[in-house]
Amino acid sequence: MLSASWTSWPNLFCIHLLLCATGAVSEKFLLAPLNSTVLQGSDVRFNATVQGEMEFMTWTVRGNLVLIVANSNVTTFSNQFSARIYSSGDINCVEFTIHSVTRRESGPIICAVLGEYGSKTAQLYVQESGSVTIMGGNMTVVQDQEVELQCVTSAWFPIPTVSWIQNGEAVDSNLYNTTSMADGDSFNSTSVLKFLAVRTNTLECLATVSTLTEPQSSSVFLVVVPKPTDWTVLIAVVVSIGGFALLVLLILGIIFCYKRRKEKQLNYQDEMSRRVRTQSQISGVNAAGQRQGQVNTGYVPEGQTSVAPSELTDSGFGQANGSSVFEMHGVVTSNQAVNGYSGADNTVDKSGFKKHRHVTIV
Ligand SMILES: *[C@@H]1O[C@H](CO)[C@@H](O)[C@H](O)[C@H]1NC(C)=O
Ligand SMILES: *[C@@H]1O[C@H](CO)[C@@H](O)[C@H](O)[C@H]1NC(C)=O
Ligand SMILES: *[C@@H]1O[C@H](CO)[C@@H](O)[C@H](O)[C@H]1NC(C)=O
Ligand SMILES: *[C@@H]1O[C@H](CO)[C@@H](O)[C@H](O)[C@H]1NC(C)=O
Repeated sequence: MLSASWTSWPNLFCIHLLLCATGAVSEKFLLAPLNSTVLQGSDVRFNATVQGEMEFMTWTVRGNLVLIVANSNVTTFSNQFSARIYSSGDINCVEFTIHSVTRRESGPIICAVLGEYGSKTAQLYVQESGSVTIMGGNMTVVQDQEVELQCVTSAWFPIPTVSWIQNGEAVDSNLYNTTSMADGDSFNSTSVLKFLAVRTNTLECLATVSTLTEPQSSSVFLVVVPKPTDWTVLIAVVVSIGGFALLVLLILGIIFCYKRRKEKQLNYQDEMSRRVRTQSQISGVNAAGQRQGQVNTGYVPEGQTSVAPSELTDSGFGQANGSSVFEMHGVVTSNQAVNGYSGADNTVDKSGFKKHRHVTIV
């Protein structure tokens, strides 16, 4: 049954299939696979194996007859479809291919063979990989700021699995929510990731469907800048401290001023008394000077007058006038002296003045 020309692998597969099938059940017609999921754009293949004479075979995709195999000749509806025939004896193997499959071809794939073989149906599922975009692009955020990133996927079929990667590590799925909506016969989805910005890193949003060998991704660079100094707090602190200091200064100032005024008052009183003292001292000195002067001048005329009482009586008014002036001086001086020195005029010494000044203070 097996000839040398059957050594190529497709034929071996067909034979294996048939042998297995015929070995188990006496199946004369097999279609494999019965379910196929492929990514849009790829080629999909189905194998039909028939034991016995196969005159006529048809392939129908989603209700359209697309390919006929008649007496080892292949007739196709479009060059998107093709078939290869391997046969040996009464075993015929047909490999049906749909090239660059699209969502339009997904659905039942029916292979029918003329005669008692009937038909077999396989299911074709076509997935679609769309786009992934993290909205907003590269970002610069402040440390500890809550960051919200949106990853939008569109034109996927079925709904893609969306995940996030931060600095090469998978992000906890509790940190993001993904919602999807149908857009015609495909889906858009939005995944929202929320986290606290800690350090500069890259964030990647991945979207995938089962047939994708590598997920589609979009990544952004997240630059985390240190939190700026909170000037408001600093300013508030400075202002309040400053205000307090100012208040304290004001109070101190008021107290100082009050004290100064009181002191001034005291000083004034002191001054006054000092002035009084000084005056008295001056007058004392004056008095002393005057007295000394008087002693020199006043007393002499007085003495003269007194020396010559007869003259007074004799000379009359003029002389008496002059003497009276002197006497008046003498009286004033003596009066001042009385005020200043409590009238103890007998000891006409400097020491005597000092003693008397003390008395005044008391
Ligand atoms: C169909 O047959 C070919 C050749 O025998 C084999 O390479 C391929 O894997 C088969 N396809 C399926 C889906 O079984
Ligand atoms: C984001 O930043 C990375 C690294 O600096 C850079 O390579 C990339 O072009 C940037 N992307 C955009 C959209 O600006
Ligand atoms: C995701 O949605 C759930 C329920 O609506 C909510 O409790 C949770 O906080 C959301 N998480 C994020 C990261 O938005
Ligand atoms: C899906 O995404 C595409 C591309 O972003 C947009 O044009 C379309 O309006 C979206 N559809 C829905 C239902 O949001």
